[in-house]
Amino acid sequence: MDLNRRNFLRGGLAGGAGTALAAALAVGGARADAAAAAENGSGGQASEPATYPFHGAHQAGVLTPGPSEKQKAAAFVALDATAAAREDLKAVFETLTDRARALTAGGPAPDLGVGQPPADSDVLGPSIPADGLTVTVSVGASLFDDRYGLASAKPAKLTPMRVFPNDALEDAWTGGDVMLQLCAHHPDTVHHALRDITKHTRGGLQPRWRMDGFDSPPRPSGTSRNLLGFKDGTANPTGDEAASLIWIDDPSEPAWAQGGSYQVVRVIRMLTEFWDRVSLDEQQQMFGRRRDSGAPLDGNAEFDTPDYAKDPHGDVIPLDSHIRLANPRTPDTANQRLLRRSYNYDRGLDANGNLDVGHVFTCYQQDVVRQFETVQLRLVDEPLVDYVQPFGGGYFLTLPGVRDSSDHYAKALLA
Ligand code: HEM
Repeated sequence: MDLNRRNFLRGGLAGGAGTALAAALAVGGARADAAAAAENGSGGQASEPATYPFHGAHQAGVLTPGPSEKQKAAAFVALDATAAAREDLKAVFETLTDRARALTAGGPAPDLGVGQPPADSDVLGPSIPADGLTVTVSVGASLFDDRYGLASAKPAKLTPMRVFPNDALEDAWTGGDVMLQLCAHHPDTVHHALRDITKHTRGGLQPRWRMDGFDSPPRPSGTSRNLLGFKDGTANPTGDEAASLIWIDDPSEPAWAQGGSYQVVRVIRMLTEFWDRVSLDEQQQMFGRRRDSGAPLDGNAEFDTPDYAKDPHGDVIPLDSHIRLANPRTPDTANQRLLRRSYNYDRGLDANGNLDVGHVFTCYQQDVVRQFETVQLRLVDEPLVDYVQPFGGGYFLTLPGVRDSSDHYAKALLA
């Protein structure tokens, strides 16, 4: 293959060498499935799936089957579309699809010979393990401005992220035309995927901000903990109930968005130095749960259901506790439930020498106003606000799934 450096860097955008490479990698991936399976098995914890199907009605990485319901490592990368015209944008989404399809399947990269830059970084070795990688692609309201003629296709409920009273949003950490959520069992797999994708989409998508995240093993059991030390994710809806709360199935939304989901990402700093000086009792009152077991304060075990009817004045679980405000568990608030899929982050130190740590709060729902915003507005003055500081994020629409090998992300949107 006569591949000069410039064509290679332009990747699939021009439809040339990059597309050929992408196809070669995808074919290589399929051929190597059996061989890769053994390696993939070394992925996450023994019982976590090594691969998540790429094709389907919904994208992977939202509802992720497996004991811990999410992979251990993640990157949230907001990108700005820099493609010159709608056709170029379409080509970028095609390339992104090819890369995601190949990377999530795993397999060896093609050998281009010593005279060419290698097709793959080899960060994961010569045979790329799938390692539970999911690539979840979402679009922001800004993509529907006048650049690509998409204004009339904008989903009814997609808006820029609202600013809430205790937010200190920084431009550099907010918004984006596209949100790429990469998750895998190990951080090097996430790094590898991001490096591959940015290489192939350069010129059409420009990274704007990025926050890497991690999820801890359950300690000692049950749900994993956030960096305030509490189990986080316990009361998430599961199975059919979760599906009925998150996937868009709404005639008032455009046809291309059906089967998608609204994604809210909030980058929230945690003031752990202050938190670690708060008494255990006060910490538990703030959440309404015990720190050791995760049990609600009126129960004994993590998955016990709090009984608010028996505690109308909040003597046991305070009325302003996080769980009581977030989900009052009344018939009227049942359709406000959402699916949380958050990660911890640790970026070292801030400019003042404080630990720079927090939470990439991520949730999925059918309707941001009915679900996330209603819950967030109830939480506005909760006692926890003194210990957390939201400074970035955005609202996005997670595209419906890529159906088969002839489909690609946003095909119906950009047709
Ligand atoms: C740094 C910020 C946050 C932290 C540390 C945090 C932590 C927690 C913890 C420890 C729980 C209890 C265990 C569980 O059921 O998962 C919980 C529950 C919950 N949180 Fe948060 N949370 C944060 C922000 C938010 C935000 C922004 C929302 C939505 C607007 C939210 C919505 C919920 C919901 C819906 C529940 C489940 C309540 C239930 O069904 O009982 N949280 N959160």
